[in-house]
Amino acid sequence: MCGIVGFNGHHEAAAVLLDGLTKLEYRGYDSAGIAVRDGSKDATIVKAKGRLDHLKEKTDNGRSVIGTCGIGHTRWATHGEPSENNAHPHCSDDGNVIGVHNGIIENYQELKEKLLRNGYTFYSETDTEVAIKLVDYYYKKYLGTPVDAINHALVRIRGSYALELMFKEYPDEIYAARKDSPMILGVADGESFIASDVPAILKHTRTVYYIGNLQMARVGKGEITFYNLDGDEIEIEPKTIDWDAEAAEKSGYEHFMMKEIHEQPKAVADTLHSAVKDGKIDLAGLGLTEEEIRELQQIYIVACGSAYHVGVAAQYTIEDLADIPVRVELASEFRYRHIPLAQNALVIIISQSGETADSLAALRKAKEKNLKTLGIVNVIGSSIAREADHVFYTMAGPEIAVATTKAYSAQLIAADCIAVYFGMVRGRITEEKGAEYLDALESLPKQIEKILEDKERLQWFASKQSNAHDVFFIGRGMDYAVTLEGSLKLKEISYVHSEAYAAGELKHGTISLIEDGTLVISVLTQKALIEKTVSNMVEVKSRGAYLMGLTTYGNYDIEDVADFTTYIPDTDPHFAISLAVVPLQLLAYYFAVSRGLDVDKPRNLAKSVTVE
Ligand code: M6R
Repeated sequence: MCGIVGFNGHHEAAAVLLDGLTKLEYRGYDSAGIAVRDGSKDATIVKAKGRLDHLKEKTDNGRSVIGTCGIGHTRWATHGEPSENNAHPHCSDDGNVIGVHNGIIENYQELKEKLLRNGYTFYSETDTEVAIKLVDYYYKKYLGTPVDAINHALVRIRGSYALELMFKEYPDEIYAARKDSPMILGVADGESFIASDVPAILKHTRTVYYIGNLQMARVGKGEITFYNLDGDEIEIEPKTIDWDAEAAEKSGYEHFMMKEIHEQPKAVADTLHSAVKDGKIDLAGLGLTEEEIRELQQIYIVACGSAYHVGVAAQYTIEDLADIPVRVELASEFRYRHIPLAQNALVIIISQSGETADSLAALRKAKEKNLKTLGIVNVIGSSIAREADHVFYTMAGPEIAVATTKAYSAQLIAADCIAVYFGMVRGRITEEKGAEYLDALESLPKQIEKILEDKERLQWFASKQSNAHDVFFIGRGMDYAVTLEGSLKLKEISYVHSEAYAAGELKHGTISLIEDGTLVISVLTQKALIEKTVSNMVEVKSRGAYLMGLTTYGNYDIEDVADFTTYIPDTDPHFAISLAVVPLQLLAYYFAVSRGLDVDKPRNLAKSVTVE
């Protein structure tokens, strides 16, 4: 992630910068640094490894750094380990250009080689040092203005960046440039502010400029000039920040979807804990008697969209652990189809909102047929929660992004609890086995956190692939279930066509769509099925597919076949998709961001579908 701040005014800059960085610390905290210039004197650069507090200590809360113009950075390491050496700001060999950066320079290796050939040396492992030295190179080569030099560099750089630069020969100015990484600028009382996000400057100004992709800014004291990639001056209208509840609840995340992806460990833990009594999974509180559970001959799971995908996964878990036949039905089909419904059946309706029209109608149909009904619902007091005979509330909290993430994960864990509990009640799994499963489930929140720590790699991959026209997802068993969700996430927010296929089914027609460079994402968490899926990967690869593998740590052979592999922690295969879904959500998110789309409010969609 990383957070950047900048200040050019009349007050001491260091205090303003450190205060801004405090508001952005959620974006990264493995090291931080500031560079401050006092008129024409050389800049003072101070960096510290670890939390921002270390930098504050080192600078006596900014008091030891003098100057009214400066930039700052809080880092979440991508290129190079967390260390003072890799911390920003970075500077050119002679201190001519100093800068901070949030984003990823994809072609930094190629650029570094060019600079090495031109006599530059490198002291850090970061892509940022390369970008700054590239600007320095063009500044000296063409002897133009900073804007000219930055323009030349931006044409060569591939990737994402929010860059702030200071030039020795322009001591009272900061230069900024942006592509695909957030950055705002603000002005008040003859002073200027720059930040990755609004909270960092809100106490100074509510008048902000949203700089566009491939645009630059020259930031003086209280005046900002914007430029396009040709170096021509452009106008950007200021916007007044009028914090509404919705924006305030983003807690600093750029989108609700990303915030909610990060809330999944809590959503999963809270939902699980609601189902645990005295150290055991115990759902007696739902009101289904043990006798009713033992007599069940059939379960129907009925839902729409992502909730339906939870049903597809739950089919595997419930059949395997509780030994009850399960049919998964789309609510819009179930409600109109004649189905000879089995007696002693339980109909489980899964719905985040509890208001989805088709799901509600399906529930009513089941009740008309005198079948027992159980709602897995997130919104308390919603129609499905009120009308179902029994309710298992997921504890995901309010979900605002249209693309569901934390509600899906909470539904999944609820279904896992039902499978384990029904399995124990029916004597299909022992209490010891139930305890083992509970252990595995309890580890999931921490494991999800671990996956989230590595999201920059997926951001990088997504930025390279986001121009794809068609993406195919393949997997077997429960991996197939999670590919359905991965594919829906991708299409609903990034508008890239994608399809999920049971890996063995692809060759029955769809494989004809695979051509040179088609992205195929293969999920391999089901140990017993990995070899089979690898064979299917080889089949598509030999027809030109570009392969991404998503598997558990240890399955390193996948790298022999896949062009890009991403790993999740190991767990019991019944629960692995609770982990596998996270990289797929992130991938969809980063695809949408790279394509400049409204992640939280995709076109044509609504959060709650209350019409059929
Ligand atoms: O509120 P529900 O869970 O009943 O909603 C069902 C679907 O509309 C929902 O999952 C939809 O598919 C999401 N937009 C997927 O991200």
